[in-house]
Amino acid sequence: MRTITVVGARPQFVKAAVLAPMLARFGIADSIVHTGQHYDRNMSDVFFDELEIPEPAYTLGVGSASQGVQTGEMMCRLEPVLIKEQPDCVIVYGDTNTTLAGAMVSAKLCIPLAHVEAGCRSFDRAMPEEVNRVLTDHVSTFLFAPTEVAAANLYAEGIRQGVHVVGDVTIDLAHATAERLPVQPEILARLGVRRGVYAFVTVHRASTANDVIVFERIVDALRRLGMPVIFAAHPRVRPMLDALGAGVNGDPIRVTDPLSYVETIAMVKNARVVITDSGGLQKEAAVLGVPCVTLRSSTEWVETVRSGWNVLAGTDPNAIVSLAHRPAPDTPLPYVSDGRTAERIVSALIGARNVIGNIA
Ligand code: UD1
Repeated sequence: MRTITVVGARPQFVKAAVLAPMLARFGIADSIVHTGQHYDRNMSDVFFDELEIPEPAYTLGVGSASQGVQTGEMMCRLEPVLIKEQPDCVIVYGDTNTTLAGAMVSAKLCIPLAHVEAGCRSFDRAMPEEVNRVLTDHVSTFLFAPTEVAAANLYAEGIRQGVHVVGDVTIDLAHATAERLPVQPEILARLGVRRGVYAFVTVHRASTANDVIVFERIVDALRRLGMPVIFAAHPRVRPMLDALGAGVNGDPIRVTDPLSYVETIAMVKNARVVITDSGGLQKEAAVLGVPCVTLRSSTEWVETVRSGWNVLAGTDPNAIVSLAHRPAPDTPLPYVSDGRTAERIVSALIGARNVIGNIA
């Protein structure tokens, strides 16, 4: 059995790091295609190095562009690869433009498609990620849902075939990584903070990072938190942080370049609070028992909010400040990890092939 894994952005490298060794263990020959959506060393190579992800067999070098141009360019460059390789299945992850490009090309070539993280919905079609998720799910052969909520979303959209509730590879990896962290991770000293007394912040989404007024309101809130703030800055927001004087003249915001995966988990685990517009960090904070404030008005990770470990603050500075100081809830953490999500995914792929001779 031969598969092609299509990745391109940070969260997909993390997910591929969990699945790639399991595919190999089950004797599946997988080749990675990197679209090039993320290309800076600290947005891409560090993940391959640190998480020991196999080298991509193909790098498409697409880079940054508008939504349509980026997605279209990925499709143009991916199609000949899939025609040449004729894999038994294409695997895509999550909700980025890379996900959608991989899904569209596979579907049009009638190659079975496996979507890992199927069924997640924020119900906000203004987010490119929501559009990518919905479209990908509707052309997928295998829909690997992380939760029952995600499976129910698929059911409500009329998708009844090929849905497997398998768990979440990112939760498994966050859990396993946190268990292995030293008590005093070196990154805390490097960034000049002590355990439990800082806010760890990331902001990168178009809705929060492309509007200068909105971004300034967030920075204003961070300055009023009354605790050190470590801001791991996506390249998209770095110029705005510099222009706003973040990190100079005693400013409580300390700006750092994007961190590696293990560094990120270390910073989340030891934070007083995580403040973010990322989807993945909401879950990672919940897994590690750290309160999270999400700078959005919707989330696809509804379990984090229902459990009280995450709150949706939008971008109102007063709400951000007061919610960042709320105590940790006494409710159970919303996600459990048995570390076996990847095994369930690969078993389902192999089972389908064994049952019908071909996984289509
Ligand atoms: C993408 C995903 C988002 C995911 C995020 C993870 C989409 C629609 N969004 O958002 O769901 O949470 O990745 O990080 O696919 N840039 C660089 N260097 C890089 C990559 C990007 O400088 O290596 C800058 C460029 O200015 C680029 C901007 O960041 O225009 C945005 O990058 P893009 O890949 O379009 O989306 P992300 O915001 O990273």
